[in-house]
Amino acid sequence: MALPIIIDCDPGIDDAIALLSAFVSPELNILGICAVCGNQPLERTVRNALQITELGGRSDIPVYAGCYRPMFRAPIHGQFHGQNGLGKTELPPPVKEVESLHAVNFLIESCESAIARQEKITLCSLGPLTNLATALSMKPSIAGGIERLVLMGGAYREAGNRSMTSEFNMLADPHAAHVVFSSQIPTVVLSLDATHQAILTPEHVARFIAVSGRISQPLGELMAFWDRNDVRRYGSRGGPLHDPLVIAYLLAPALFTTEKARVFVEHESELCMGQTVADWYGKSGQEPNVEIVTHVNAEKVFALFYGLLARYAENS
Ligand code: RIB
Ligand code: CA
Repeated sequence: MALPIIIDCDPGIDDAIALLSAFVSPELNILGICAVCGNQPLERTVRNALQITELGGRSDIPVYAGCYRPMFRAPIHGQFHGQNGLGKTELPPPVKEVESLHAVNFLIESCESAIARQEKITLCSLGPLTNLATALSMKPSIAGGIERLVLMGGAYREAGNRSMTSEFNMLADPHAAHVVFSSQIPTVVLSLDATHQAILTPEHVARFIAVSGRISQPLGELMAFWDRNDVRRYGSRGGPLHDPLVIAYLLAPALFTTEKARVFVEHESELCMGQTVADWYGKSGQEPNVEIVTHVNAEKVFALFYGLLARYAENS
């Protein structure tokens, strides 16, 4: 049976690649997409989510608008996604409309239904954790409806990508991250330590364009825009495949190695705000609460994505 999932995201170029990959994975039953303020303001992440859902031919999947701003701190937005959040790619105005139900209420209702049906949900978070943290603050019992949270976020042995210490999703709403990491929900994190092992190079992009059929042009544009051109940081041209690794983990967990640790999120310090701190050696005396992905079989992950995105050629 397909895995029931909810994708919480802030499209966002890499969010878009993750969504397009999930749309052609019958192993995943996508119950809904929740948009949140992150890479872009909420109105834009909602619009982008609607456009990507239509590009992927999945207008059947409901899109919900989530939190307009982080729990406490002022909003910050992404630096690598272009003016509209999708690089220079202009997609048709969405025909599909956002649902009237708020994403937080959708999360609460979905988790309560999962508890009643004894069919827990896997939650995939690709952006700041504001929606989930707000839902948990409103109704902590919904944690019982979540089988596992697989999220892209944090930096442990890697330096930050938005501040010296902190990865964007954690820095964008550190208080939400603190709430979520304190919730005891079984959690797997794809941090920068993992995503920096899977750099989407121009060579990869050329191959994706060649195999992805009817979405090859917008996909190629999105992927090309993602090139950071920072060989010093990433060891090659290209950009880290951040959010798509969440989908790859769901589909092929054997390609990933994890280590358990207790994770804390700095949500008070000015200097280290949003830093994720892993207690690798039990110094805190607290039980591990997260599985941190420490190794990625990048070659096989890219092969997985080639196979997935080639499905857009099959039904062209
Ligand atoms: O730091 C990378 C994360 O921040 C990704 O989710 C990207 O989309 C941005 O949200
Ligand atoms: Ca994202």
